[in-house]
Amino acid sequence: SHPFYLDCDTGIDDALALAYLLASPHADLRGIGTVSGNVSAAVGARNTLDLLELAGHAHVPVALGAHDPQAGSFGGGAPWVHGANGIGEVTLSTAAAGLAAGTAAEMLVRLAHEHPGQLRILAVGPLTNIAAALRLDPELPALVQDITIMGGAAFAPGNVTAVAEANIANDPEAAAEVFAAGWDVTMVPLDVTMSNVLEESHRQELLASSGPVPRALGEMLGYYFRFYESQFGRACSAMHDPLAAALAVGGVSAAVAPVVTVDVDTTSGPGRGQTICDLRGRYMDYPEQPGARCRVVLSLEDDFAPHLVEVLLSVSESTTA
Ligand code: BDR
Ligand code: CA
Repeated sequence: SHPFYLDCDTGIDDALALAYLLASPHADLRGIGTVSGNVSAAVGARNTLDLLELAGHAHVPVALGAHDPQAGSFGGGAPWVHGANGIGEVTLSTAAAGLAAGTAAEMLVRLAHEHPGQLRILAVGPLTNIAAALRLDPELPALVQDITIMGGAAFAPGNVTAVAEANIANDPEAAAEVFAAGWDVTMVPLDVTMSNVLEESHRQELLASSGPVPRALGEMLGYYFRFYESQFGRACSAMHDPLAAALAVGGVSAAVAPVVTVDVDTTSGPGRGQTICDLRGRYMDYPEQPGARCRVVLSLEDDFAPHLVEVLLSVSESTTA
């Protein structure tokens, strides 16, 4: 199993991604950094610590990351999607563990040096901390194995503007630096996350578990489903962040995933935050693009929802609450 650094804005689907990584035999989670997005970096850190304790993994260090994006300031998050506390108004007991010393970016750089050539990054929030780490240590891309990013939209529409997805829209300047850094990126855009949804029957399976983590996640998803009702007309939800986790560890496989160049629009016009993916090869089955290093996942081989439920049900099987 590989050492992993998770960067997140915990968030309901971030909580699912965290639980997925904890349960995966292919991931050895060595550190977590939080960033403002769904909630502030500080609230995201609180949620992350509390979830880790509930899952019996309080030893995983959590570092506080950036409160504000590179340009401007944190806009207050998305309480209508994730609830005011970020986890669908579910109350978890407050973890005994505190934050690790230093910033999230410092933690990432340190882990990369501790595991040269091996560390894998999963980024499921705005990319502010990852860009900060690149500035702290420009050798970072050569030190890590790869980075998987939940963010952006290829052919799909955006979810905060016509073209921009939230994680990119919340810090386009940081995202532009991360996509241009010269490392192997797997991008998990809305194209694939919006077309592999979790249904109410799956949520009921989580709620029926005897494990405290699947049950808490099932409760959080109740809130998320109510928001998605306005998107899909029925109680279900996208699973953005856990899908990125599953693709990173190989729990599911991509069907169509061309390796292309991706630019991020940092202008102030209507394109701000768009991920401009060079998908012109579509009509020729995506021939190789010299120098391109971003694998853009457009569709899956597998049915993700049953796999996700199975993995989540295995979290802290031995713990009862
Ligand atoms: C992304 O934005 C956040 O709301 C979610 O946690 C996910 O990472 C989806 O656009
Ligand atoms: Ca997220």
